[in-house]
Amino acid sequence: MKKNNNCIVADIPELVKCFRAIIKDPIQGIGEIFDQKGPVVRFSFGGRDLVISTDPGIAKQLLYDNYLFADRKSSIQPLVPLLGSGIFVSEHQSWLNERKTMSPYFFGSLLDKYIKPLADDFIREFTILADKGESFGLEKKIKEILLEINLKILVSPDVKPDRSLMVSDLDTFIENAAIHSHMKNEIKEFMLGAIGLKPGRSRKVSAALSRINTFTDQLVDDLKKGKLLKAPLIEMLFEKYEEKALSLQQIKDEIKNILFAGFDTTAGGLFWSFWLIENNPEKKRNMTEEIERLKDDTLDTQEKLRTLGYIRKICFEALRLYPPAWMFTRQILDEIPGFEEEIPLKSYFVLPVYHYHRNPEIWKAPDDFIPERFDDEAVTNSINYLAFGQGPHKCIGSRLAIMELVIYLNEFYKNFEFEIIQKSHPGINPGIIMKSRNDWQVALRRK
Ligand code: HEM
Repeated sequence: MKKNNNCIVADIPELVKCFRAIIKDPIQGIGEIFDQKGPVVRFSFGGRDLVISTDPGIAKQLLYDNYLFADRKSSIQPLVPLLGSGIFVSEHQSWLNERKTMSPYFFGSLLDKYIKPLADDFIREFTILADKGESFGLEKKIKEILLEINLKILVSPDVKPDRSLMVSDLDTFIENAAIHSHMKNEIKEFMLGAIGLKPGRSRKVSAALSRINTFTDQLVDDLKKGKLLKAPLIEMLFEKYEEKALSLQQIKDEIKNILFAGFDTTAGGLFWSFWLIENNPEKKRNMTEEIERLKDDTLDTQEKLRTLGYIRKICFEALRLYPPAWMFTRQILDEIPGFEEEIPLKSYFVLPVYHYHRNPEIWKAPDDFIPERFDDEAVTNSINYLAFGQGPHKCIGSRLAIMELVIYLNEFYKNFEFEIIQKSHPGINPGIIMKSRNDWQVALRRK
């Protein structure tokens, strides 16, 4: 093993050992690698490298300075059958066009229009749950509710998905592409390849994808025929379709990209925010004082919502400790000018955001829940904070997501309280999107 500045170069036996640890438990496995070897670990094999890093300098190179040379699509290949040619996987000029046309629907004053529907739907759903008085798995319920709410504001206010099935299908498909499943599949492919066979997608995963596609096909067909009202974003996409600048397939793909990227991540953010608030009484007190102080104000613009400053900080801090997009990957497809190390083409860089956010070189007392770290919100735009990524590919929905989280937490603590059933930590199940290992069982009551 050769030491190279702060980068450790590991050999093949070590690579196998690390792969095993990652397949068993990605969060713990990657954590152990950093504990043993430092913040940048480089595995060399088969003429390409795999670099796992919690180094801000490398993150900056990949996400800002040299983002054009660091490709995302090739590193999320298993997701391509779901995402098609949508914004999450498109590249170069077509990505830029999609980003430009869609941005106004995720930033700017249009977001104000979403505030009331988001709050109303959330209260309605949670009132039903509270009135039932039964215990339920919080994370699963939040996902189902947010799936529908996100579809309503971004696609059509009339949409009625079979949300339990849809959440489970998206989970099944996305889980199959998570790092540990992906590694297992690669090994299977390698072994079957040696005897001349090709692995197929599992029947369960294929069925899930097929149902998601059927749902999207039907949805777009109904939107086209005017059977469903169109949300502003979809109205714009159909205008492009009328101008022949976009195909129906592209509209379907964008809807699936929004579904993939939007609801699960925000649901994860809300779930972990609840967990952290309920387990930190002093922070909860600060938050409820703020809610009490502002409870009679009409918070119907983004600017007015910003007065809920403490809740906002809670959201950023929850996303730091439990980043739903807990790792992302880039593949180096072209030579990176000025990169300190010589990196072979096709090498992969993994940025495990969960570990990055808990690196004591980057954040003081990294494991503690301290919303006050975000007193200066500018930190969230620095390379130290990767919950939404950074640079040109930074999450297009980041402003919407934070707005949603603030609205939901405000409305929840104004109107409801938990009758906590289960106290123990739910554990982490790091798929592509971080989930709990055992959902948190709760019951609610109205205040
Ligand atoms: C708490 C909630 C969210 C989190 C933590 C999150 C996280 C992220 C991250 C880390 C990235 C960058 C990935 C990379 O660079 O490889 C990203 C990109 C993206 N996100 Fe989000 N996201 C959230 C909510 C949303 C929402 C609500 C939407 C839309 C409805 C959305 C749509 C997207 C899209 C389309 C991209 C790709 C942007 C591009 O490449 O130009 N996200 N998100």
